[in-house]
Amino acid sequence: MPSYKTIKGTHDLLPEQMEKWREVESRCLGIMKQFGYHEIRTPVFESTDLFLRGIGSETDIVTKEMYSWEDQGGNALTLKPELTAPVARAYIQHQLGNQHPLQRLGYYDALFRRERPQKGRQRQFYQFGAEAIGSPHPEQDAEIITLAYTIYKSFNIQDMTVKLNSIGSAEIRPAYLTHLRDTLQSKKQELCQTCQTRLENNALRIFDCKNPSCQETLDSHAPLIFHSISDDDKKHFDTVIDILTSNDIPFEHDKKLVRGLDYYSHTTFEITSQSLGSQDALCGGGRYDELIEQLGGKPVPAVGFAAGVERLLLAMDENDTAEAFPLVYMVVLGEGAIQKATALVQELRSSTGESIVMETLRRSMKAQMREAGRCNARYCTIIGENELNSQCVVVKDMESGEQEEVPFSELSSWFSDK
Ligand code: HAM
Repeated sequence: MPSYKTIKGTHDLLPEQMEKWREVESRCLGIMKQFGYHEIRTPVFESTDLFLRGIGSETDIVTKEMYSWEDQGGNALTLKPELTAPVARAYIQHQLGNQHPLQRLGYYDALFRRERPQKGRQRQFYQFGAEAIGSPHPEQDAEIITLAYTIYKSFNIQDMTVKLNSIGSAEIRPAYLTHLRDTLQSKKQELCQTCQTRLENNALRIFDCKNPSCQETLDSHAPLIFHSISDDDKKHFDTVIDILTSNDIPFEHDKKLVRGLDYYSHTTFEITSQSLGSQDALCGGGRYDELIEQLGGKPVPAVGFAAGVERLLLAMDENDTAEAFPLVYMVVLGEGAIQKATALVQELRSSTGESIVMETLRRSMKAQMREAGRCNARYCTIIGENELNSQCVVVKDMESGEQEEVPFSELSSWFSDK
């Protein structure tokens, strides 16, 4: 028999991790709701063309990382590598713009990219994110950045940096790209092989390169797109900055931040954390005013962000655990006590709303007490033949070691008073 293991770059989430994952999910979605963002969920796979058009045919995601296949009916399909294009597709398909001129949508979902796995980078990973579709105004950009920042603050992430830039509108891009290509042509040999190809096909992507020598060449020679943006775009950017400042959100203007997907225009941003190592982006986002139209909808401005869940968990304080320990571990001694014990734990679950766990392995008293300690129960209750006769359980405080006899009929109120 072969021994089966998870596929490279994918992970099981075991029960001890799931507790924390559920807490992260509900907190992220809860904060989004506070900001007026409501959850949307799209299918796991979409037509490949949606991502070619949406993300851009020369981006890393499309050229190297998509899980694509042809199904038995000859349809070209892809496991979703990101959610902005699917959400835009859903917005157009369901005519969400007719329901309300501004759609605030949030998500929490699994995504797939065939990248080289390393710390903070998987092939199946999770993102939470938000898309605000309908407003062209800078306060909407600021709201999205504030939302992402507020979520990280709620998890007590300390060492984060908000990086912000504007790449202007799509109209300025052709002239800027010609200027960039012309300037870098004489330095082509200093660029890595991939950037040499990018220079021909999609020169803006050179800014995404992690290769230090490409970055040095850019620092010394490349014109920055921020210097080509219009006065209106500068005003938009300044207003975003003013709002962030008044919201007490510290930021850095990173003029090289262009982001690795083609749909962006105007504001781009990332929040990074020094604790993450080389994959330091907690989240990224920006404006994408042309995407909805490019995908066949009416022209509608939009802005959003998406954040890696695994990276948030890596950056979280170890103490910020969401593990729920049982309030009570019910120790059961002898077959005769099982029925009463079952009734009592059920009653306690409904009266306290807490986790109440009962022994079902019929182990020795010593082993059951050890189990109560192992699962970090706050109390253990003991029920056996003596307790059935006296109609009481023994309640032991696992921290202080104190014990008390509590009548069956008073057990619920005894715990409710705690
Ligand atoms: P992205 O920068 O490709 O943007 O991904 C956003 C975040 O997802 C990253 O900052 C990172 O935290 C996480 N992430 C990306 N790839 C991986 C991976 N292989 N393993 C673990 N985490 C990963 C987008 O996806 C855009 N759709 C963001 C957006 C929303 N822009 C506008 N709206």
